[in-house]
Amino acid sequence: MCGIVGYIGNQEAVPILLKGLKKLEYRGYDSAGIAVQGKMGLVVRKAKGLIKNLEEKISAESKNADEFCGFAGIGHTRWATHGEPSDVNSHPQTDASGKIAVVHNGIIENHGKLKEWLLSKGVTFQSETDTEAVANLIGFYYRGDLLQAVMEAVGRLEGSWGLGIICADEPDRIIAVRKESPLVVGIGKGENLIASDVPALLEYTREVYYLEDREIAVLFKDHVDFYSDEGQVIQKEKTHIEWDAASAEKGGYEHFMLKEIHEQPKALTDTLRPRLTAADTGGARKINLDEIGFDASWAQASRVVITACGTAWHAGVIGKYAFEHFARIPVDVDVASEFRYRDPILNPKDIFIIISQSGETADTLAAMRMAKKGGARIIAITNVVGSTLAREADLVMYTWAGPEIAVASTKAFTTQLMCLNLIALQFGVLRGVIKSAQLNEYINALEAIPAQAEKILKGKENIQRFASQQFNKGKVFFMGRLFDYAASLESALKLKEISYTHSEAFAAGELKHGPIALVDTSTLVVALCTQSKLFDKMESSITQVKARGAAVAVITYEDSDRFNNIADEVFRIPRTDDSLSPILSVIPAQLFAYYCAVQRGLDPDKPRNLAKSVTVE
Ligand code: AGP
Ligand code: GLU
Repeated sequence: MCGIVGYIGNQEAVPILLKGLKKLEYRGYDSAGIAVQGKMGLVVRKAKGLIKNLEEKISAESKNADEFCGFAGIGHTRWATHGEPSDVNSHPQTDASGKIAVVHNGIIENHGKLKEWLLSKGVTFQSETDTEAVANLIGFYYRGDLLQAVMEAVGRLEGSWGLGIICADEPDRIIAVRKESPLVVGIGKGENLIASDVPALLEYTREVYYLEDREIAVLFKDHVDFYSDEGQVIQKEKTHIEWDAASAEKGGYEHFMLKEIHEQPKALTDTLRPRLTAADTGGARKINLDEIGFDASWAQASRVVITACGTAWHAGVIGKYAFEHFARIPVDVDVASEFRYRDPILNPKDIFIIISQSGETADTLAAMRMAKKGGARIIAITNVVGSTLAREADLVMYTWAGPEIAVASTKAFTTQLMCLNLIALQFGVLRGVIKSAQLNEYINALEAIPAQAEKILKGKENIQRFASQQFNKGKVFFMGRLFDYAASLESALKLKEISYTHSEAFAAGELKHGPIALVDTSTLVVALCTQSKLFDKMESSITQVKARGAAVAVITYEDSDRFNNIADEVFRIPRTDDSLSPILSVIPAQLFAYYCAVQRGLDPDKPRNLAKSVTVE
């Protein structure tokens, strides 16, 4: 999910690779490494932590000038998904012979099976990464033709990958191949490069080829050949990059937040797919949480307690509704900073679900430690492999969203919801609440979500236009019932934190108990309406705020025209199960917050007074 660079040409590769990796630093990473083809054959250096650590390691471990230099090499910044950040888990990963080195962005979903198979053939492993299975698979198939071996190996992979591959026996080439993870080939003069993102290339060239899924590029210093996955030579069209370095970092988007909002379909797929049994194996579809060690014993819990801060707490509120609905189990949800100072009643039969994008939030960690002390078992949901939360929890379910750079959380939130839904459904299955046919329907609904999210993103101009009319509103209220109430909490926070608009969320049923006193002609009310059984109630709340002069925007299903006549604006989301709707309904709200911030001339990536990771109280 992080950075790849590769170089082949007439210059020393190592300084170019290091510079390229630095250009990708903005993407966030936890370790870095380089493999170079030189006089000493294929040599690898890698280190946990910053690129600076790698540079120090290179100078400490290369006693003479020839030891770590050459004209071809590959480099990597890692955002760990499989195996904690460590020297040995850093990339490049090599095959057991040490002759083939691989850098990889993405997740190999069937790495466990591949590893088992390779072990049975006597192949040895050293790291905990999924990537090592790729290196060993290529090594296994290598019979003197790297391209052939790569094709055979890649044919067996499931998941997502951008791969850069070099082989000691074929030092004149680098091979690149991808699926669902970006890779760009840069064409220079007497030199060619690969990178996962354009900024790493700009110093050398603006002529690039974007690799499409499963296409293969073989780079030599003076030319590049492209092949289909079946080995047919293909012709590709070159692209000239016009972007400057700053917009290239954001993949052409104006801000990281917008980029991350757009990354949600992929992040949701990556988070969901490895946790489902394959569709083509026949039989009923199932949720498979074996990989995280979730077994039937977890479903014996007498109560689930969800604890977190900020956006992660909002995910927890939605989680409560989901657990009650899918698994019929009592759930408490608590803000971590409250929980830690209350006198909570703990029971060893409790299960705690602790949610944190960073895995380092001080209050959240304190709450987790208290729960542990009380004898409860802990499930962590986090985006950072090797974070304190991940290390201390009994069981970890990662959100595979990739690094989130913008302070305002977007893709971490929706992937947290995906994890919570999967755990809640699995609880429901184990507790006998959800039957196989029903599960199948939920799985189908979950699988549809990434494409549905994509569809919402395609309609973003509508939200942009609306934001350009509303961005100066003094007050914005978000209201809804049930899952929509929970999604309103997150929608209001997004708007508040990046556009500094006074925004609040409330349960629509509470309108008459207070909030309506604030409603006047300067108010915008955003009504989330996806809970079909409560449409009448929402209609009545909307009518009441309209009668006080508020402007009303409704977020509802695209196939419902129920609110057309009473709302000033209707944003439509594709139909899903009402209990899964927050994953989709929050996206228009994220976009609205983003466009309001931009209209106000603010930098949505760096809101005032806020930090990405709150490691102090
Ligand atoms: C999200 O947009 C906020 N910046 C903030 O509320 C955040 O969710 C909170 O600080 C918790 O962070 P964590 O998920 O890393 O624990
Ligand atoms: N899944 C790989 C790992 O954990 C690659 C991670 C990345 O994309 O940086 O090593």
